[in-house]
Amino acid sequence: MTTFQPLIATAASPRPQTTPNPARYPVAIIGAGALGLSFAARIARTLRVAVVARDRAAAARLCQGVRVGDSLFQPEAWAPEEAPQADWVIVLVKTGDTAAAARSAARMQPLGVLSLQNGLVEPVLQAHCPLPRVAQGITTTGAFRDASGVTPSGDGEVLVPPGFEELASMLARAGLDARVEDDIVPARLAKLLVNLAINPLAALFRVRNGELLEAPYRLWLDALVTEAWPVLCAEGLALDEAAAHARVRAVARATATNRASMLQDVLAGRPTELDAITGVLIELAARQGAAVPTHRAVHRLLSLVEAPAG
Ligand SMILES: NC(=O)c1ccc[n+]([C@@H]2O[C@H](COP(=O)([O-])OP(=O)(O)OC[C@H]3O[C@@H](n4cnc5c(N)ncnc54)[C@H](OP(=O)(O)O)[C@@H]3O)[C@@H](O)[C@H]2O)c1
Repeated sequence: MTTFQPLIATAASPRPQTTPNPARYPVAIIGAGALGLSFAARIARTLRVAVVARDRAAAARLCQGVRVGDSLFQPEAWAPEEAPQADWVIVLVKTGDTAAAARSAARMQPLGVLSLQNGLVEPVLQAHCPLPRVAQGITTTGAFRDASGVTPSGDGEVLVPPGFEELASMLARAGLDARVEDDIVPARLAKLLVNLAINPLAALFRVRNGELLEAPYRLWLDALVTEAWPVLCAEGLALDEAAAHARVRAVARATATNRASMLQDVLAGRPTELDAITGVLIELAARQGAAVPTHRAVHRLLSLVEAPAG
């Protein structure tokens, strides 16, 4: 049990202007959602961790406590404009909020900023957080949230690029399966491949992942992989075409009963991460002069589904 006094920033009792800045946190997480809170609750067992929520009201609610797994977690939660300094900042907002999160991260004067988001967000992150060490890793851990709190759903890996050794050690000490991956680009592209095959299709057809392996969806799934494979290879993907198909099918099989995050977003009426996943692939293909008609069709159709009725 730490002797540290919780730094509670509530809307009801705003911190007086005269309160000195607290000491730097070793770790901060921007994005108090499913994965952010699940990581924060783990890290808080061994280290002080600041959680940066969307706004002051959200920070105040979190300070009262939130269920994470079977326990009540009372994070040291902050509004973005009051975020404290931190050595390492982990970004876990949805991709559409990356720019705002990156600006918050820059204000925290960290040694490094690591995104563990899906999609490819590193350029956006670096554009809005011009520090020397800003990069995107990957995680295969999972979590979901509903009105009752956050449920971590399975332990996976956390792979971080070189330069983030200290952060990887901190995460490992907290019990996360974290390590430095010297060649992060192929690993990131392999995860992107899986996401851009499964996620948009599941959301478009409103089916669970396993159904994508059956007719008629299987044709779409295979077409998305076939089109994406050469584009991602040109960017550094290190899978041959057969292995690319096998990887996507294996994930669909292993997560057969899951609802993909993009499907959950569509069902909840929230914006999806389509642009950071399929949108990025379309941009890469355009730059390479490659044709990705099925991805373009999926992007167009899902954008219509997402668009507010008007
Ligand atoms: N969940 C998983 O199993 C999983 C697994 C691997 C990767 N990922 C990736 O991890 C990222 C986060 O996913 P998630 O499922 O944790 O999403 P989530 O539950 O929607 O959490 C995101 C949180 O960030 C908050 N937020 C938005 N803008 C912010 C800002 N500018 N400053 C501070 N907080 C802000 C959101 O607030 P509001 O609630 O107000 O929107 C929300 O609480 C995504 O890129 C996702 O693809 C998720």
